[in-house]
Amino acid sequence: MTKPKVFITRRLPDEIVDPYKEHLDIHMWQSEEEPVGRQMLMEKARSSHGLLTMLTEKIDEGILRQANDLSIVANMAVGYDNVDVKTAENLGIAITHTPDVLTETTADLTFGLLMATARRMIEASQYIKDNKWEHWSPLMLAGTDIHGKTIGIVGMGRIGEAVAKRAKGFGMNILYYNRSRKPEAEESIGASYADFEVLLEQADYVVCLTPLTDQTKHMFNKDAFQKMKKEAFFINASRGATVDEEALYEAIVNKNIAGAGLDVFEQEPISSQHPLLACPEVVCLPHIGSATKETRYKMMQLSLENLVNHFQGKPLLTPVP
Ligand code: DGY
Repeated sequence: MTKPKVFITRRLPDEIVDPYKEHLDIHMWQSEEEPVGRQMLMEKARSSHGLLTMLTEKIDEGILRQANDLSIVANMAVGYDNVDVKTAENLGIAITHTPDVLTETTADLTFGLLMATARRMIEASQYIKDNKWEHWSPLMLAGTDIHGKTIGIVGMGRIGEAVAKRAKGFGMNILYYNRSRKPEAEESIGASYADFEVLLEQADYVVCLTPLTDQTKHMFNKDAFQKMKKEAFFINASRGATVDEEALYEAIVNKNIAGAGLDVFEQEPISSQHPLLACPEVVCLPHIGSATKETRYKMMQLSLENLVNHFQGKPLLTPVP
């Protein structure tokens, strides 16, 4: 029997991919770093039965409609805003993603980003490297406390809950806003539900972990930043487009908020000339929320397992909801 042809849009380690060659005829884009170009992606989608994609690939109607033999897209991310799920559903193309395996890793990074932002860690490291540390002084690089403060988590999914657990360990008061209430999280972590506006007004750290949808696009806009406290920080580890970056920049330079920790940007990679990056109050990371070797390997394996299950007619492990 011929094996189903699968195209992986980035070079993944042989040690991960090789075991799956028994079941799949695997072809890979040969760069680890650079995403596959649009034209090549179109061609590969047309000549493959399955795709294993990264969040950098826009799997839109244009790609899906011309891919006559394609029956599954395994997206190697928990977020799947890069995939036109509706069109895929209409065409009978299955979509999977990689929840759970990255929850704790992403929560670690999110909380670390909050800490780095509040305690000015990146700035402090640069201070020494730039040979500026000549004296110790009482308020040198003084930041803001984390313990005893209020964290406001917007998007209380798996990662939101994992961040809330870390916040509890740090003695924070926990507010959350979500489409639906989470009674178990309220009971086990002691998180309290708040309306979006109330959360913005009360939180010292507003942490965005909501998926990007038509409803959440630019939900952090001028209005939202104006409601936040002047001493509060904004942290984003979900998707850049949940934020109106111009409004965020204005909020920071006008001192409406104290600063921001950003792992994601509307345009990725963000230009190094972007005005936000010139603000000392902004800590920025290149979308590394789930980037540990252990977790990235698990995400790769889960995507491959989904492909194998699909072609063997078994239930998908993690279809998109
Ligand atoms: C995801 O899985 O959606 C993350 O953003 C990738 O790090």
